[in-house]
Amino acid sequence: MAASEGQWVLMATGRSPTNIAVIKYWGKRDEALILPVNDSISVTLDPDHLSATTTVAVSPSFPSDRMWLNGKEISLSGGRFQSCLREIRKRGCEFEDEKKGIKIKKEDWENLHVHIASYNNFPTAAGLASSAAGFACLVFTLGKLMNVKEDYGELSSIARQGSGSACRSLYGGFVKWCMGKKDDGSDSLAVQLADETHWNDLVIIIAVVSSKQKETSSTSGMRDSVETSPLLRYRAQTVVPSRVLKMEEAIKNRDFDSFAKLTCADSNQFHAVCLDTSPPIFYMNDTSHRMISLVEKWNHSQGTPQVAYTFDAGPNAVLIAPNRKTAALLLQKLLYYFPPQDKDLSRCGRPSCTSRDEDTG
Ligand code: DP6
Repeated sequence: MAASEGQWVLMATGRSPTNIAVIKYWGKRDEALILPVNDSISVTLDPDHLSATTTVAVSPSFPSDRMWLNGKEISLSGGRFQSCLREIRKRGCEFEDEKKGIKIKKEDWENLHVHIASYNNFPTAAGLASSAAGFACLVFTLGKLMNVKEDYGELSSIARQGSGSACRSLYGGFVKWCMGKKDDGSDSLAVQLADETHWNDLVIIIAVVSSKQKETSSTSGMRDSVETSPLLRYRAQTVVPSRVLKMEEAIKNRDFDSFAKLTCADSNQFHAVCLDTSPPIFYMNDTSHRMISLVEKWNHSQGTPQVAYTFDAGPNAVLIAPNRKTAALLLQKLLYYFPPQDKDLSRCGRPSCTSRDEDTG
């Protein structure tokens, strides 16, 4: 049976975790291709916790492309979805399943429509990088379905066109998004710095301060920062290049002291850029600031970093401890100073936080 005939449905399912940047991406030099103004580095989370699961199906009986996110149909007309679909379709290879009588030629992929169903096991657009997991998973799963032969680096540069940070979720462990130099973006892709086994003592705790959708999306926030923030230019040209080198060294040597200092400093500078934007963008709230203060006081009292913090485009804290023992201590402090509010249990089942006055940390 040829691709255009019959009632067959071919499906593939994939799962991609989200990633948390320790050196942030903030600012594009090309909006359409999603090319960043600086390199960034992230750690990919365990897929059992924060991930997207996507099933894609293709059939000659589908009259159009359609997508459902968490069970609700969403429009695929946006340029980002279209770029990912177009780039994957272009690279689709011949596929044959003799038992089912399916034969798809390379050129057939352009005319076959897809249905996509994607689920996040965490709140969408609450500053927990849901688009990173979502687009990485979409590109990976479409690639699997269409028998794409390209390596993860190439797939990452397609996922980048869905959402910049998505390119880093193609790999586990520590990942660098190299900004690239070329105008066509072909060298703006992710590389794995170290796999997930390299530094597996680290424990990452996400304190969901609020699971509400953020008011300013990363996309529009960084556009405003590029247009108005002098600090962004200084950061991209002068600060990040040397910080990236130091972070690579820290990861290679599992040097928590240096890793934590760089992570906190970079998060703080990213939020300083947001404040330097006109009009200013406030992603963190009072609870976020109190969490920073708790960690800073604790780190200071010990003379060396116990825990690192980082905040993306939202108020939720990502806290990184060097081992389980410190993570347990951190949890104790968090539960004491930020007792969970049961009435605010978020959709993903994690409590949101209030705060208790804290003295010594
Ligand atoms: C603060 O990747 O969501 O999380 O490329 O416009 O889709 P678009 O933005 P997005 O931005 C993420 C910004 C960040 C920092 C980071 O993940 O590096």
